[in-house]
Amino acid sequence: MYSLWKVTLFFLLFIVFITGSKIQQYAVDVGRNATIPCRISNTPSEVNWVRKGKGRLTILDDGSLFLNNVSLNDSGIYFCISSGEDGNDLNYTVNVKVRTTPNALNFTVHPKTVIALLCWDVLNTGGYPITGFAAEYRLFNSSEDWKVISSRISSNSRTYEVYNLKPNTTYTFRMWATNQLGQGAITEVHKTTLHNNQSAELARHFLTNAHTFDTRVWAIAVGIVMGTLLVLGTGTSLLLYQECRTPNGSDAQEIIELVPNIILNPGFEERGGLADENSNNETAVHLNNNSVVQPQNM
Ligand SMILES: *[C@@H]1O[C@H](CO)[C@@H](O)[C@H](O)[C@H]1NC(C)=O
Ligand SMILES: *[C@@H]1O[C@H](CO)[C@@H](O)[C@H](O)[C@H]1NC(C)=O
Ligand SMILES: *[C@@H]1O[C@H](CO)[C@@H](O)[C@H](O)[C@H]1NC(C)=O
Ligand SMILES: *[C@@H]1O[C@H](CO)[C@@H](O)[C@H](O)[C@H]1NC(C)=O
Ligand SMILES: *[C@@H]1O[C@H](CO)[C@@H](O)[C@H](O)[C@H]1NC(C)=O
Ligand SMILES: *[C@@H]1O[C@H](CO)[C@@H](O)[C@H](O)[C@H]1NC(C)=O
Ligand SMILES: *[C@@H]1O[C@H](CO)[C@@H](O)[C@H](O)[C@H]1NC(C)=O
Ligand SMILES: *[C@@H]1O[C@H](CO)[C@@H](O)[C@H](O)[C@H]1NC(C)=O
Repeated sequence: MYSLWKVTLFFLLFIVFITGSKIQQYAVDVGRNATIPCRISNTPSEVNWVRKGKGRLTILDDGSLFLNNVSLNDSGIYFCISSGEDGNDLNYTVNVKVRTTPNALNFTVHPKTVIALLCWDVLNTGGYPITGFAAEYRLFNSSEDWKVISSRISSNSRTYEVYNLKPNTTYTFRMWATNQLGQGAITEVHKTTLHNNQSAELARHFLTNAHTFDTRVWAIAVGIVMGTLLVLGTGTSLLLYQECRTPNGSDAQEIIELVPNIILNPGFEERGGLADENSNNETAVHLNNNSVVQPQNM
């Protein structure tokens, strides 16, 4: 309970801090122009914009700050200062965030003999949600075309498997993330697949068999499967047909129900298999003292 109070108190203080601070957030896409109004002054001529470590800033006639073709360097805190009517300096703080394409991924490759596992993490989305990832590979130090592993890996994925690699071979893998501004920075990784002669042998065996596979064997296998399906299908149809012919299986059930009745009640007569007006069924009830209570039609 105590820690809950502490958390609540901390949370409330946090809210107060957030709403109390006067820092305005301003987000702009890289390469765009930004016009940031100074919302404290009615006398634009007396407005001045400053930024730490930045030279002259362009101030428009209405007192707005103008940033041309913003780059990441334009991210940061800007102050708009204006002399208030009572002589006190008014101070308006803007935190400019420049949105870009995603940063390079933290990308690693874990090679086996013919498979490699790609693992990655997003370090910086650039300011917009990631829409997907793309991965490619090719032989190391070659100028061959990149082979696309996938150009549309879901934004939730953080691992992906590559197949069909050759053992003991060095490859270059590359990946990047995409957001609504486009492709992010590319990360390249060089890795050599393992030389494990056992699994290499296994893979070769597999491939050799695949190449020399006899089509007649294939045809026979298909025949057997189809034959089995046909037999199963016919059997199922017959069963269904019987089920339809004898709704609720009443014939068989009635005979089975009749047997105990006849044994318990030699005078039992079939009364059409219908429940009476009190919803009593035809089943005799056996009490503890071996007396038998018979349902009666009134
Ligand atoms: C950005 O501002 C420059 C002038 O500084 C102008 O030439 C250009 O057209 C503007 N670009 C956009 C996208 O508004
Ligand atoms: C914007 O800046 C980038 C480099 O920061 C430059 O490559 C590009 O040509 C600039 N665009 C314009 C319209 O000035
Ligand atoms: C950003 O600033 C760095 C140095 O601080 C400079 O080398 C680089 O050219 C700047 N980039 C742009 C796009 O202005
Ligand atoms: C603006 O006010 C903040 C605190 O509210 C202060 O830290 C900052 O130095 C002020 N900036 C200028 C330029 O006076
Ligand atoms: C990148 O990922 C590795 C593990 O895959 C981790 O140890 C490392 O700290 C990560 N680097 C960064 C900058 O997050
Ligand atoms: C990669 O190519 C460069 C020249 O393009 C060559 O100098 C280097 O030896 C090659 N490295 C390997 C491992 O083949
Ligand atoms: C792996 O490949 C290198 C050359 O790419 C070769 O020198 C080496 O003998 C190979 N290793 C095995 C175990 O086949
Ligand atoms: C597997 O490689 C080892 C050395 O790396 C070698 O001694 C062994 O004979 C190889 N086995 C086969 C089946 O090639």
